Amino acid sequence: MKKKVFLTRTLHDFALKELKKRYQIKIHSGKIPIPKTKLRSKIKEVDGLICFPYDKIDKEIIDCAKNLKAISTYSVGFDHIDTEYAKEKKIRVGYTPEVLTDATADLAFSLLLDISRRVSEGDKIIRDGKWKEIYGAFDYVGVDLQGKTMGILGLGRIGSTLAKRAKAFDMKIIYHNRKHVSKTREKSLNAKYVSFEELIIESDFISIHVPHTKETDQLFDMKILKKMKKTAFLINTSRGKVINEKDLVTALKKKTISGAGLDVFETEPINKKHPFVKLPNIVLAPHIGSSTKETRIKMAEITVENLNLGMKGKKPIYSVGH
Ligand code: DGY
Repeated sequence: MKKKVFLTRTLHDFALKELKKRYQIKIHSGKIPIPKTKLRSKIKEVDGLICFPYDKIDKEIIDCAKNLKAISTYSVGFDHIDTEYAKEKKIRVGYTPEVLTDATADLAFSLLLDISRRVSEGDKIIRDGKWKEIYGAFDYVGVDLQGKTMGILGLGRIGSTLAKRAKAFDMKIIYHNRKHVSKTREKSLNAKYVSFEELIIESDFISIHVPHTKETDQLFDMKILKKMKKTAFLINTSRGKVINEKDLVTALKKKTISGAGLDVFETEPINKKHPFVKLPNIVLAPHIGSSTKETRIKMAEITVENLNLGMKGKKPIYSVGH
């Protein structure tokens, strides 16, 4: 009898085909994210779970699962999974780093270019029929990137790849991490380690590449935003909860900082009523950091492979914990 796998949302056809060869699969097709009560009942009998970054796989859910051997998330982030508890229960957890590094760094840099050159703002002006006068000396002026300081919080895979982009644009790169990266990496990226305080004070652009943890929760609040340069921009492609959104709205309204580019939010999706939507000095993206055709295919391949290994009691290719 085939083992059972539950997917909280569908994946590419090739991935489903692969899964069907080995397992009896069920795919949630209703409301997204799957309601907790439904997930609780679905997970009871399954051996494997494929989930997404908005599915909260906490102790309560894990406790409902009697046979669960593997959890495979279609994401690099795994803050939605109680990985400690999964480890205790000997459940393997797989995730999808590396394959989405370039796509996410590209998106962070796109937000940076967009907000600094006011591309989306200009697009809206034209679509709203408000572009009335041609080519004035002071029209829609943005800022140069060359010579500006790019501050990267979290020089891991994505942060380092963003640094490469920034280096190509002749920016000065500073970073803050829990630990210094190797001298070789610092040298190749032309990146200088600074304290968190220095990063906040000295950067013209800050890009966030840390996971959401107890330590980073609401890290960018008014106290921090006030320390940033008035001319600075904040970019976030990691997790929305690293920023205090209410404080960011106030900071953008009062021009405490110049602007922001966000791909992630405290609660997703956001709608038209969100206070960000009315602000001209922010660029918004609907959580598309890894969303390129090529990357999403690679993520599906890894998600399936991680699950297969975990189901056999083996370590997934990209494994959290054990
Ligand atoms: C991830 O993989 O964690 C991203 O947030 C999804 O784009």
